Amino acid sequence: MKKILAILLCVLMVCGAMAVLADGEKIGVSMPTKDLQRWNQDGEYMQKMLTEAGYVVDLQFAANDVQQQLNQVTNMINNGCNVVVISAIEASSLGSALDLAKEKNVPVIAYDRLIMESDAVSYYATFDNYKVGTVQGTFVKDALQLDTAEGPFNLEVTAGDPGDNNALYFYNGAIDVLKPYIESGKLVIKSGQLEFNDVATPTWKTEVAQNRASSILSSFYADGSDIDVWLCSNDSTAMGVINALEDNYDGKWPIITGQDCDKSNVKKMIEGKQSMSVFKDTRMLAAQVVKMVGQIIRGETVDVNDTTTYNNNVITVPSFLCEPVFGSADNYKELLIDSGYYKLEDIQ
Ligand code: BGC
Repeated sequence: MKKILAILLCVLMVCGAMAVLADGEKIGVSMPTKDLQRWNQDGEYMQKMLTEAGYVVDLQFAANDVQQQLNQVTNMINNGCNVVVISAIEASSLGSALDLAKEKNVPVIAYDRLIMESDAVSYYATFDNYKVGTVQGTFVKDALQLDTAEGPFNLEVTAGDPGDNNALYFYNGAIDVLKPYIESGKLVIKSGQLEFNDVATPTWKTEVAQNRASSILSSFYADGSDIDVWLCSNDSTAMGVINALEDNYDGKWPIITGQDCDKSNVKKMIEGKQSMSVFKDTRMLAAQVVKMVGQIIRGETVDVNDTTTYNNNVITVPSFLCEPVFGSADNYKELLIDSGYYKLEDIQ
C-alpha cells in the first residue's frame, strides 16, 4: 500500500512538473555584445533557464552594432517568436522592430536596459540602477570619511554610455551622494569635468575610458598631484582607468569604484588596484525574466515591484528591480565563490 502511494505521489509530482513546462513556444533573446563578460553570462543563463522551462530559444548577440540588433530582433519576430527579450545597445534605436512587435502582438521585455521612446515595451527587468550608483558614492564617502576628514581630496569621474538609459541612473546615484562635498570644495575635480556628457564613455569601452583617463592624467596630474578617488560607473571603464594609471601615473594609488564583479576586475580587487565593485547576480535577473516570460505566455499577472520609476518618454514600464550588492576584496569569496557564481580558479 505504502509503495503504491509512493508511486502515485511520484506520478502526481511528474505530472505537476510537466504542467508547468512550456509548450515549446519560441522566445527571442537579443543581447548587445559578446565583448563584455556579463552579456555572455546573461545570454548563457537565459538560454539554459528558458530551455529547461520548455521553450525554444533564439539567442543572438549584436556586436554593439545598432543596425545588427535591429535586424536580429526583426527576424525573431518574423520567425514566430512569441516573446522577445531585448537588452538594447542604443535605448532609442529599435523603432521599426518595436512597431513590428506591436503589429504582431509580440510582447517585449526590456532586459537590464530600458528601451526608450516606445509603447511596445511590456515589462522591464533590471537591477536597481540608481542604487548601484548610491552604493558606489556611499563607499567613496565612507572610505574618505568625507564628513570628518579635512580634505580636500582630488576626484575624477568616468561614467557610462550615453546611449544606455542605465548610465545616467548610475551616475546620478553616485553624484547625488558626492555633490555636497563637491560643492563645499572637499572634493576637487582638477579636470573640471563633471557633467554627465563630459565624463561619459560611449559603448562602455575600456579603451575609450583609458584614452580619456590618460589625457586627464597628462593634462592635470603631470605636476605630481595625487588623485584620491576615481569614480567609475562599471568594471569595463574602471579597467580603462586602471590601465591609464599604470601607464601614466606615479602618485598615491586612488580609490577606484566599479560594477559587475567581472572576473578580471575581481583579480584587480584582490591585487588592491580596484577598491570595490557592485555585484549584480545575473542568475537572479535571468530567473526573474524567465518567470515573466512564463507569466506572460500563461496569461497570468506578471510579478513587478516598481510601477513608477521607469518612464521611457512614452509610458511608465512596469518593472522588476533586483538588488545590487556591494562587493570587495573582503567579501568576494562569500559573494562569488561560495554562491557558485565563479570558481576560485576563474579569479586567480
Ligand atoms: C549594465 C552594466 C554593464 C554596462 C556595460 C549596463 O547597462 O547594467 O551592468 O556594466 O551596461 O555593459
